[in-house]
Amino acid sequence: MDLLSKIDKKNTPEHIAIIMDGNGRWAKKQGHMRLHGHNTGVESVREVLKAAKEMKVKYLTLYAFSTENWNRPKEEVDGLMDLLVRTIAGEADELNNSGVRMLAIGDIDGLPGDCNIELRQAMEKTKQNTDINLVLALNYSARSEIISATKQLAEKVNNGELSVDEISDEVFSNHLTTKGIPDPELLIRTSGEHRISNFLLWQIAYSELHFTPVLWPDFKRDDLYKAVIDYQSRERRFGMVSEQISKSI
Ligand code: IPE
Ligand code: IPE
Ligand code: MG
Repeated sequence: MDLLSKIDKKNTPEHIAIIMDGNGRWAKKQGHMRLHGHNTGVESVREVLKAAKEMKVKYLTLYAFSTENWNRPKEEVDGLMDLLVRTIAGEADELNNSGVRMLAIGDIDGLPGDCNIELRQAMEKTKQNTDINLVLALNYSARSEIISATKQLAEKVNNGELSVDEISDEVFSNHLTTKGIPDPELLIRTSGEHRISNFLLWQIAYSELHFTPVLWPDFKRDDLYKAVIDYQSRERRFGMVSEQISKSI
């Protein structure tokens, strides 16, 4: 079945966010260590990025490491950081040559030094690219991001730079690490879990949610197409009634 032909090219999401989950279970099923699952998951990232770019998606945000993930066994955390450094270092030129701009959200300064350096170099190298933005959520916590925005705003009110009445959705959004990035129209979570796990809480207010049982290392091009087809089958009402939506088309 040719899934791509079922996609309405004029109605692809501008921003897709993905909670890439299930690497550990995937590895366990094959009798391997969890890290083997993370390594294999990189293949899915490559394929999904390519497919998203071809569909003219402008932002692909991938949840790669949450602040809560520091609580995993040290061996796994070290392995993940090592994988991150190797992958970013190894892929930066290829990303640059294929028109990908790399961005990061989360507390990047809280990452180990070598990770931070590689990430910053890759962002610098690819900053002129415009085909697609690959946004990596690293050391990310939506609650911390919201608290940080709140503190920045409180500080500005304290200094007299901003009045309380001026705090709006837009002003608030501009103090998040996703500043300048449109909210995702579509959020995908793999591995059969139906939760958000502290990801983009503010930004997904009106996102369509797509949950799939597929484990991340098995998630390929066709799975992304299925998610987009599912998204396109929904009616996004934004609090209105169906008749108002059909009239505006
Ligand atoms: C997602 O896969 C990757 C990260 C959280 C870094 P998991 O490692 O959470 O895999 P499961 O959920 O244990 O199968
Ligand atoms: C969410 O997955 C974080 C990432 C995908 C990076 P987790 O596996 O950490 O989430 P929980 O613990 O199942 O909620
Ligand atoms: Mg998990």
